[in-house]
Amino acid sequence: MKGLILAGGAGSRLYPLTQVASKQLQPVYDKPMVYYPLTVLIASGIREFCLISTPHDLPRFRQLLSDGSQWGIAIEYREQPKPEGIAQAFLIAADFIGSDPVTLILGDNIFFGGDAFPRAFAEFQSGATIFAYRVHDPERYGVVEFDAEGRAVSLEEKPAQPRSNYAVPGVYLYDNDVVTIVRSLKPSSRGELEITDVNHEYLRRGTLQVQRLSRGTAWLDAGTSSSLHDASAYVQTIEKRQGTKLGCPEEAALYRGFLTLEQFETLVAGMPRCEYQDYLSGVATEVRRVGIQGA
Ligand code: G1P
Repeated sequence: MKGLILAGGAGSRLYPLTQVASKQLQPVYDKPMVYYPLTVLIASGIREFCLISTPHDLPRFRQLLSDGSQWGIAIEYREQPKPEGIAQAFLIAADFIGSDPVTLILGDNIFFGGDAFPRAFAEFQSGATIFAYRVHDPERYGVVEFDAEGRAVSLEEKPAQPRSNYAVPGVYLYDNDVVTIVRSLKPSSRGELEITDVNHEYLRRGTLQVQRLSRGTAWLDAGTSSSLHDASAYVQTIEKRQGTKLGCPEEAALYRGFLTLEQFETLVAGMPRCEYQDYLSGVATEVRRVGIQGA
């Protein structure tokens, strides 16, 4: 399965932070925001990526992530010149997707806990799989409604009167039909190709699976200065308490077998002396001692 990371948008709600660096490059505690969704996909076994951003921001992402080979993955880059919708990503990256299934993750979605994603990726066969997460402010998101049997019955984008408290987080798994589906979409009233319209089409075909993320999973939003600060505080709290880090692509690549321990050690040795390097050196020592005991 191919992986798309969408890191576009003007980030206007984070002004003036986003004057020189886009939202997904802002720090969430000790790492750039985009490390978190990237790590979720690496930990789920994705190896081939295409990152989509604005022509203005793309060079910074290339500088940060390069071609991915340092992590045993491959990253290509494509431009989204105008914010014309999340679903446009599938048109922009159509040649990269080819005839494969594809997952899309939004570059500002931060998750922690549970094994729902690796499991869903391992089980995925066809149609679409999306997720649902209980929130107190569903009107800000795509909203999914379930019937008494737990089947998804409706999907709406930012409804004024939500029919449930279940928001759809920014991780989507699709079979290759997604490209054809997006080609036939019309822009919404806000002038965007809506991801909710894509999901709607899979719902209509009867091939949409909606998996509820348990309350043990954290899904954080980092789109405003105050939620960005909260996300940083959350990451710091967990990291301090557990002595493990969230959102380290190096570590996920090692655990997933994309890097050998020797490659990992060479990578870490080349980093400047800092907390991040200390942490990863500790990971290497532990793996050398007891092997990989799981992420
Ligand atoms: C987008 C989607 C929405 C989804 C959300 C998740 O919203 O349109 O369906 O629930 O991402 O972060 P936006 O980022 O455009 O507000």
